[in-house]
Amino acid sequence: MSKPIRRLELAGASVSVYSKSTDACQVAAERISGVISKALAVRGHAVLGLATGSTPEPVYARLVEAYREGILTFAKVSTYNLDEYYPMGPLDPQSYRTYMHRHLFGHVDLGANRAHLLDGTVPEAFAPSHAADFDRWIEAEGGLDLQLLGVGRNGHIGFNEPTDLPVEQVLALPTRLVDLHPTTISDAAKDFGGEDRVPRQALTVGIAPILAARSILVLAFGDRKAGAVARSLRGPITGEVPGSLLQTVPGKVEWLIDEAAGAEIL
Ligand code: GLP
Repeated sequence: MSKPIRRLELAGASVSVYSKSTDACQVAAERISGVISKALAVRGHAVLGLATGSTPEPVYARLVEAYREGILTFAKVSTYNLDEYYPMGPLDPQSYRTYMHRHLFGHVDLGANRAHLLDGTVPEAFAPSHAADFDRWIEAEGGLDLQLLGVGRNGHIGFNEPTDLPVEQVLALPTRLVDLHPTTISDAAKDFGGEDRVPRQALTVGIAPILAARSILVLAFGDRKAGAVARSLRGPITGEVPGSLLQTVPGKVEWLIDEAAGAEIL
């Protein structure tokens, strides 16, 4: 088991700092396996909220390895992904559906009707009802046992972008269609072959359902995330830094970061 070089309690969260991001990802995979076993023992099924982006890729690689080693099964697991670009076809190489298939779904025994993503093909007029259904599906399964999260450079979680809405309103935000922030569009440009090709909107699981998860595991690596990590953990609770809203659910958030991402909090 990989050991953190530093462990601290900050703003109600446990923060473990690893010298290598791969060590943190190994620990994240162990946490996820642990949550699955515990949920199976208690309720007979496990419900995971999953994230995309480059950060969690090694976590999925480790989960696939554990499945292949026969120490983990997804037979009684349901997954709900955090977000999807809009509009976006499921087979598009840039879709998060494709990402999940490539990194996890295509390699493990997770049933096709248990691997849920928001649908980037839904007609715009039906996006609100589709998003509300997604929240209902999660609730009908008894809620998320664990939400895996990354954080954007602007502090976003999922695609919940910075907003000047009052905190109480932000905390109540459900799953919905959103406009992407310029920083998000610029960060996604490399994946889409230019800023012009990045969709301007996305469907995202809301702040309320994210915070309702029974446990939340946040990963952040590299110096480009140092500012967002510091503002999430040390800054005031504000919609301008969606990661800071994690401070409102003390005791259930764990951050696994590397030294570079922790540079401004250590
Ligand atoms: C993306 C995703 C987020 C992700 C974040 C960081 O836009 N919507 O869910 O956590 O930005 O991405 P990365 O891990 O590639 O830095």
